[in-house]
Amino acid sequence: MKELRRIASLVGSLSEVEFKVLETMERMADGGRASTPEILARSLGLGLDYVEGMLEELNKRRLVWSPRGRGREYLLNFSSLDLLALHSASRRGILTHIGVKVGVGKEADIYAGMTGEGSAVGVKFYRIGRTSIKKHKRFREAGLGAANYLVSSKKAAQREIQALRILHPKGVPVPAPVYRNRHMVITSLIEGELLVDIRSLPDPETLLSEIVRSVKLALEAGVIHCDLSAYNILVTPDGRHVIIDWPQWVKPSHPNAESYLRRDIENVASFFRRRFGVFRPVEEVLGGFLRVGGL
Ligand SMILES: Nc1ncnc2c1ncn2[C@@H]1O[C@H](COP(=O)(O)OP(=O)(O)OP(=O)(O)O)[C@@H](O)[C@H]1O
Ligand SMILES: [Mg+2]
Repeated sequence: MKELRRIASLVGSLSEVEFKVLETMERMADGGRASTPEILARSLGLGLDYVEGMLEELNKRRLVWSPRGRGREYLLNFSSLDLLALHSASRRGILTHIGVKVGVGKEADIYAGMTGEGSAVGVKFYRIGRTSIKKHKRFREAGLGAANYLVSSKKAAQREIQALRILHPKGVPVPAPVYRNRHMVITSLIEGELLVDIRSLPDPETLLSEIVRSVKLALEAGVIHCDLSAYNILVTPDGRHVIIDWPQWVKPSHPNAESYLRRDIENVASFFRRRFGVFRPVEEVLGGFLRVGGL
């Protein structure tokens, strides 16, 4: 069985006290402390034998693990974090169904989902540390530093929904933010194809101009993407674009804001030049930009 399906099926079958144990372990880990059966039994007012049995059971279900050489310490993993996030969303009626995987990135998995009101949503679970040390380094540079990958994943989700909540009301074409819990971000589901997969376009000049306009609108709203490329732009069947994947955004007051903005524009401009033969001087684009947003 696929891991997320297995986890989704556990949302309704775990007991209240099992959720309490996982939540307590999470709080302890956030405070830099490890969980042992003794500590958990004491803080939850439960018998030691009972807690030991429960941890063994959770371990068998691969929801907790015990690092080698660390005695009786137990830790959460991405599966239990998924479970806690799904539990929160389902308790609030925000997510009633989870469906197929619609995207896999280096740092996240994205699934289709359904809300209590019947809207289709994208459910993104951050998995920082799964691959690419390089990108993790960039997260650190963005002030997201944390040795702990679960904490980094939560911070990335927080940063991403924060950007979407600023940008969406300003009319920047981004997925509409719905809900964030832990390392999970729920947004509107976008029907579209990644720009990098598109071989021909009826009017590439116009699309490039519209993307540049969105980057400017985001800048005016106080947000620079910092990872903009043809891999993070979806093109809808009616030819509109949606910019996704915002966890590493910075404000225009960031010391490296200008070079990040330049890199974003260069990535897009050089892609349009190579793929569609559309030439747009980066300096010209930036020239129109640097007067806004406090840069
Ligand atoms: N709201 C959405 N609706 C539909 N598909 C989406 C949505 N968000 C993401 N996707 C799909 O999932 C893929 C990965 O998403 P995203 O770029 O946000 O994750 P990522 O792990 O940060 O990617 P990477 O690190 O590889 O750039 C996208 O390329 C896209 O195909
Ligand atoms: Mg991406």
